[in-house]
Amino acid sequence: MCGCLVTSPYETHHLNIMTPKEEIEQLRKELEQHNYNYYVLNQPTISDFEFDQMMHHLEDLELFYPQYADPNSPTQRVGSDLNQSFKAVAHKYPMLSLANTYNEGEVRDFYERVKEGLEGEDFEICAEMKYDGLSISLTYVDGELVQAVTRGDGVKGDDVTNNVRTIRSIPLKLREGSDYPHEFEIRGEILMPWTSFEKLNEERAKREEQLFANPRNAASGTLKSQSSRVVAERGLDAYLYYLLGDEIPSDSSHYENLQKAASWGFKISQGMKKCKTVEEVLAYIDYWDKERKNLPVATDGIVLKVNSLRQQRHLGYTAKSPRWAIAYKFKAERACTRLNEVTYQVGRTGAVTPVANMDPVQLAGTVVKRASLHNADVMEELDLHIGDMVYVEKGGEIIPKVVGVDKDQRQPGLQKVQFIKACPECGAELVRFEGEAAHYCPNDSACPPQIKGRIEHFISRKAMNIDSLGPETVDDYYQRGLIHDVSDLYKLTIADICGVNKNRVKSAQKVVDGVKSTLGVPFERVVFAIGIRFVGETTAKLIARHFKSMEALRNATVEELMEVDGVGQVIAESVVKYFQDPKNAEIVDKLASEGLQMQLSEEQLAGQTDKLAGKSIVISGVFQQHSRDEYKAIIEQNGGKNVGSISKQTTFILAGDNMGPSKLEKAQSLGVPIVSEEEFLAMLE
Ligand code: IVH
Repeated sequence: MCGCLVTSPYETHHLNIMTPKEEIEQLRKELEQHNYNYYVLNQPTISDFEFDQMMHHLEDLELFYPQYADPNSPTQRVGSDLNQSFKAVAHKYPMLSLANTYNEGEVRDFYERVKEGLEGEDFEICAEMKYDGLSISLTYVDGELVQAVTRGDGVKGDDVTNNVRTIRSIPLKLREGSDYPHEFEIRGEILMPWTSFEKLNEERAKREEQLFANPRNAASGTLKSQSSRVVAERGLDAYLYYLLGDEIPSDSSHYENLQKAASWGFKISQGMKKCKTVEEVLAYIDYWDKERKNLPVATDGIVLKVNSLRQQRHLGYTAKSPRWAIAYKFKAERACTRLNEVTYQVGRTGAVTPVANMDPVQLAGTVVKRASLHNADVMEELDLHIGDMVYVEKGGEIIPKVVGVDKDQRQPGLQKVQFIKACPECGAELVRFEGEAAHYCPNDSACPPQIKGRIEHFISRKAMNIDSLGPETVDDYYQRGLIHDVSDLYKLTIADICGVNKNRVKSAQKVVDGVKSTLGVPFERVVFAIGIRFVGETTAKLIARHFKSMEALRNATVEELMEVDGVGQVIAESVVKYFQDPKNAEIVDKLASEGLQMQLSEEQLAGQTDKLAGKSIVISGVFQQHSRDEYKAIIEQNGGKNVGSISKQTTFILAGDNMGPSKLEKAQSLGVPIVSEEEFLAMLE
């Protein structure tokens, strides 16, 4: 039956007495019910196969009867490959954040403040999970999802409705017969469950792509994806924790409202509990601090809310957060395990990082066996001995860190760890520059990880973006003597790459094509790719636009470089030093003779002016004539600098509609002028 599109799929159902419209509606309802059973209740009642069959049938019907199309049909949950840009939308009610507390004393203080504020009246505190994802505001009208907006700056966010429709636990239509208001907003957190996160990072590791540091970053990267199909595939989830709208009964309670929301089809905060005393609150915190490890998603604390909406209104808000709620943040999770060995990693700049190798231990959802020790000073301060029991913590980074040693457990006779004197890779004596914490291997021309690191940087996405090559292939070619520096990539032939292995022809062709494609990469990315120390993506852009050609950049003095806004002494000296090294100069010459872009393109030169030179500009609000990214490019093209936040140094604010009130206030208090879109464009004419 599926895929049978020669005749109407409706006609294939001879015994069906429903009209196509009725059948479509019935299938949608049934599929949404199965979605709910599976993704919200965790209790599927049909097999995946049966579900897919029904879905295919609905897809066929929708294709045949486009007049019944509906963006909230379950078929839309698979997303599409169409590129989308996210419209900025003002929040009807601002999305505030919560004040944080970190210990029992601060929780007690909150409780006392509430008690005082309510002048002796009885009250309940609703305690619930604090989810560590990204907040979202969903609007429903007549039981249908109409809009999903990210928090953004709290005043306005991005409209990500298409992407949110692919999250299976978010109802597209509310459950029939439930008494939801005509219009309301519900807020919550979008999360990537641990299992989806691990699967995604495993896949990325296989493809040699950069890993996500934590589920929050993964969820946020996913939700902002240009393709809703990617979002659909990544297995996001959502928990809702705040209901608001003009029709929510003013004498109701938070707990009661969320229970109602659950009956409409939402997945709500787990383990919600109404507490009458502060002791109950503290016991709840204590319980979930341990139990949260068994939850499928990341949590970073507990949220405490005064339960009655009337009492919430009475307590009100400070400028930034409600007085009726607070977040208690869990302490970073810590594990204790044995230190077996300290090894050393050499990066592309020659910096040497000590790494602790430990007995595997479970920490914040993953197994950890390596942790960073940063540098010799940190190691010395920890007073590490091989065999010590060490404490490991996970911050926001992928690599956890060693934060201490349990000296009570230290056995006699253990050997203190001494920072190495020679490079573990090439044997060169390490050096330490004045004022820097890191040790360096000075042998940049012959130390393998430095050579390979420079090539890996050159091919990386933000540089030359040769995605047919990755660290493993670079290592392979280097081992086989095919490449020693980035210019050798341009000499690679299919025969070299294949060697005796003829199965490699196809992938070899891709590598050769990938290398060739870099001839079109703009000059500023070439400046970034050659790997001058301290010259990141933004600095590369600034100096490329200022000097316009590699020739001019190469002849620039420290003083001339420092004339570029954003370039200080350290960067300027590093650029001069780079070109003074004959080996680097030779590589750049070779790249030029291969045909890489060694100057700004005609187009860039034509559009470039100095009209905004030396000006620091903040962009705020929504614009009519160009997008924010376009304005950013226009500012840079005309020699100006786009900065994120307002300070005394800001020359002016390019303001569109709905500029955030806090920005407006700050601009006024610092006397920073506000320039409209029209005024700005007139400046450039
Ligand atoms: S209530 C006005 N409840 O934590 C109160 N927030 O700084 C609105 N969060 O941005 C927030 N879990 O993204 C609330 N159960 C929960 C939460 C929660 C996570 C996030 C939310 C907010 C931040 C607070």
